[in-house]
Amino acid sequence: MTTLQESAFAKINLTLDVLDKREDGYHDIRSIMQTISMRDDIEIDIGTGKPWKLLCDKEGIPTDERNLAWTAARVFFDTTGKDPDGLEIRIVKRIPSEAGLGGGSADAAAVLRALNRHYGYPFSILALAELGAMVGSDVPFCTICGTAMAEGRGERLRKLPDMPEDCCIVICKPDFSSSTPELYQKIDEKAIARRPDHQAMESALLAGDLGKIAENLYNVFDPVVTEDHLEVNYIKSIFNSYGAVGYQMTGSGSAVFAIVESFEYAAVICNMLRENYPQIYITKPV
Ligand code: C5P
Repeated sequence: MTTLQESAFAKINLTLDVLDKREDGYHDIRSIMQTISMRDDIEIDIGTGKPWKLLCDKEGIPTDERNLAWTAARVFFDTTGKDPDGLEIRIVKRIPSEAGLGGGSADAAAVLRALNRHYGYPFSILALAELGAMVGSDVPFCTICGTAMAEGRGERLRKLPDMPEDCCIVICKPDFSSSTPELYQKIDEKAIARRPDHQAMESALLAGDLGKIAENLYNVFDPVVTEDHLEVNYIKSIFNSYGAVGYQMTGSGSAVFAIVESFEYAAVICNMLRENYPQIYITKPV
């Protein structure tokens, strides 16, 4: 039996735009995504000689084929035709669920990377990301990590210059969670008043200009969620009062993130919010 280990990193959306609804019911998106240091840990035993098993230290996470990590392993073995002779996946969960941080996708991507390494790299990283598209929309990005533009459902990726690393990303996850299908439906029902300026965000990344990156954060889901959950404005007001250069919701929420120039400011923000929002974390772009 062999044990593999891999880190599964969360993502934030620096920009997120929803385009047309497709014939398959999904929407095309455009989003600049960024990996952050918040992570789950994945361990995989290969060759257990027993039926497949998935364990997670956090309650409420599915531990069968509904878990994207399981699906990713299934897709990998179906595609390569290999037989692991029994598999056990263990997940140490730190990434909050239903947050827009891509936690499930990150776990799935980590499983793909670990298995690909174990079997001597049958897939290039881009081919592995394509395999990830069969598992979930955010899995391709979570496979390659870093900074990238994602288009289509998230499977068309273009690497971008890395975001400057000398800053902190504070993540605050409020207690509510929003339903992704409902949010897409709401977006369909109303005209989108403002959209992100991807060109400006790309230029800001190219220049490594944190102020301009912060200025150009924009997620079309942010106003839709905030409308129904005004506490998001409270979180943002604390971010704003204590030195964040920019902030917004990630993905379809409900986590909100702030870009902060120093660890000291990030620590102050955490102290201000922790009592009401215990799910608050200081992370970095990676
Ligand atoms: O990707 P996920 O399965 O979490 O998406 C949940 C639902 O959100 C989909 O069934 C679809 O209704 C909607 N969705 C969409 N376009 C996307 C991603 C999700 O319409 N690109």
